[in-house]
Amino acid sequence: MDELEAVLAVASDEVAATQSLAELEELETRLTGRKSALAELRRGLSKLDESERPAVGARLNAVAEELAALVGSRRRILEREAEDRLLADDAVDITLPGVGYRTGTHHLITQTIDEVVDIFVALGYQVATGPEIETSWHNFDALNTPWWHPSRLDSDTMYVDYGESDDELPLRTHTSPVQARVMMAQDPPVYVVVPGRTYRTDTFDAAHSPVFHQMEGLAVADGITFGDLKGTLAHFAREYFGKERTIELIPHFFPFTEPSAEMHVSCFNCDGSGCPVCGRSGWIELLGCGMVDPNVFEAVGYDPAEVTGFAFGGGIERIAMVRHGITDIRHFFDNDLRVNRQYI
Ligand code: PHE
Repeated sequence: MDELEAVLAVASDEVAATQSLAELEELETRLTGRKSALAELRRGLSKLDESERPAVGARLNAVAEELAALVGSRRRILEREAEDRLLADDAVDITLPGVGYRTGTHHLITQTIDEVVDIFVALGYQVATGPEIETSWHNFDALNTPWWHPSRLDSDTMYVDYGESDDELPLRTHTSPVQARVMMAQDPPVYVVVPGRTYRTDTFDAAHSPVFHQMEGLAVADGITFGDLKGTLAHFAREYFGKERTIELIPHFFPFTEPSAEMHVSCFNCDGSGCPVCGRSGWIELLGCGMVDPNVFEAVGYDPAEVTGFAFGGGIERIAMVRHGITDIRHFFDNDLRVNRQYI
């Protein structure tokens, strides 16, 4: 029994000194396990004198309970500490600044194409595309351009193959050859817009780029008139530049339309009174247009007695420069992100 009292005397300090649940478990085995003094005394109980037995037995139970209580309360403390550590390790500091992701944007040329295409898609037009390396036939002949036309010279047009008129391969100088491709691929009615890249031998300067973009429009059906052309272009001008815009069509010449015109839109900046944006004229020259020439219909296998149509085509860079006040076309091609980031 003295041995047991000695064990009990230091047990409280020993239990309090344990630093982990594993240590506590080890101590518990030593204090109350099968090889502990407590267990040994219990086993010896039967050998005791019957008169001593109740008192010793009661004391053994009391000590056992006390040890269990000591271990139990220490266990709750250690468990709580372990839990706290886990929570602390897992904690997220919600006051830290987040990780920022930079959102990209489409190039202004792409944005402009998308916006103009949307205006025409809303009218029922479809989008068509064609190759950038064309045949001279599609780029010139089908479009009623005579063999002697100066634009066919390699001083004006870039060629992948030049000289043999039957298999010449120019880089297309406009999106108009897709007019021919679309009409040869389908019967009327046709309502298409054609955005795409085009090439000319222009020197790269503030107003010119040898690579630029155009958008073609073509509508062919039974009974289409010049009035339809004018109404369609006026609608486009109002949608793209604002409700107040008016247009004028000034006679011009293109081989593939007759009559042909240049479309001007009233200046959105000065409302037509004259300012630097419109060169003081009040009008901004936007694109070429006209009624599809009967010779073009014949070249692609349409009957000019059955259908009429209009076509128009203009530069995407030009439209974007006018609308956004950009004065140098090279900004579109320089890949200077400070320019691009202005149009997010
Ligand atoms: N293709 C002409 C150009 O590049 C524009 C145009 C298209 C004119 C369609 C009339 C009809 O200038």
